[in-house]
Amino acid sequence: MKGLILSGGFGTRLRPLTYTGAKQLIPIANKPIIFYGIESLVRVGIKDIGIVVGDTKEEVVKTVGDGSNWNITIEYIPQETPLGLAHAIKIARGFLGAEPFMMYLGDNILKDNLNDLVKQFQKNQPNALILLTEVNNPQEFGVAVVDEEGSVKKLIEKPKEPPSNLALVGIYLFDKEIYGAIENIKPSWRNELEITDAIQWLLDNGYRVESQTVKGWWKDTGKPEDIIEANLLILQDIEPDNQGKVIDSTLNGRIVIEKGALVEKSIIRGPAIIGENSRLSRAYVGPFSSIGANVTIENSEVECSVIMDGATICNLENRIDRSILGRNVVINQINESPRTHKFVLGDQSYVQIIK
Ligand code: TTP
Repeated sequence: MKGLILSGGFGTRLRPLTYTGAKQLIPIANKPIIFYGIESLVRVGIKDIGIVVGDTKEEVVKTVGDGSNWNITIEYIPQETPLGLAHAIKIARGFLGAEPFMMYLGDNILKDNLNDLVKQFQKNQPNALILLTEVNNPQEFGVAVVDEEGSVKKLIEKPKEPPSNLALVGIYLFDKEIYGAIENIKPSWRNELEITDAIQWLLDNGYRVESQTVKGWWKDTGKPEDIIEANLLILQDIEPDNQGKVIDSTLNGRIVIEKGALVEKSIIRGPAIIGENSRLSRAYVGPFSSIGANVTIENSEVECSVIMDGATICNLENRIDRSILGRNVVINQINESPRTHKFVLGDQSYVQIIK
């Protein structure tokens, strides 16, 4: 079985972060999101992965490489314009050939391993096997209607009146019949070839589509609050490790301190990770915080946030909470007159100030 990971797209909902980088490379617990997907595929024994890439191809290739890190081969499939998930399969056909494959959306993270999914696909040999999860807001997802055995009867994209609360998770297994389905569908109102339409075509034409429901958590990291949530979920299971230097500080809970990091006169409450060569001085780092490499936090407090490489946070009176700071962001509070705010913010940056 081959693997297909989708790492193109616009990532509009994650601007401004996606103006300067691919959303699939945003770090969750200091590891790019897409690595979680690659590792999920590797765990079920997939050794041949194609990655669909768009405008951010160069940095995805640079970060992910040729697969040798995981002992697999990775091939890149450029998609000129993000014309939909089914379009991504269409352009990957040359790579996929006639083999069954697992498609994994590169911005998704799943706790479960995918062994049961692969087993069910191999045993029952349906034409498609989709993964579902119960959600509170099915209006925002592709939703499935299934019978008692898990056979899929119908799929509806973002229904106003959802027939169930079972949303499609971004992981699918297909056999070669999917190509015929994609040839037969038309672009949707948003001009995308929708994977839900292709699967619905399979259903309407007598092909078998089965489903499995996710047991653990699943996160689609499309929006900023999803990044915070995914970071929280991943940090919950982090294995403590200290390779840095801790001086005169209090550490509670599960904490990873990476090589070269220095923590002095600070408090860290885990779960948290402090990246390579970062420096915390008179700082408080609270639960569910991921601090990247080469970050400085001085005389300031951070909690439940993702702080990326090279950021600097100094002398803040109020705590930073549930926030995402991109690379090399500087936030500094100074005690000078006139008492003005000074900002250099990219398009669509978001700042909230408490008086
Ligand atoms: P989406 O989150 O649906 O789309 P997007 O990344 O363009 O984000 P936004 O809606 O905020 O603009 O995409 C899911 C995943 O699939 C994501 O990793 C990007 C990838 N993708 C492609 O590779 N090609 C495509 O044509 C599309 C639509 C998405």
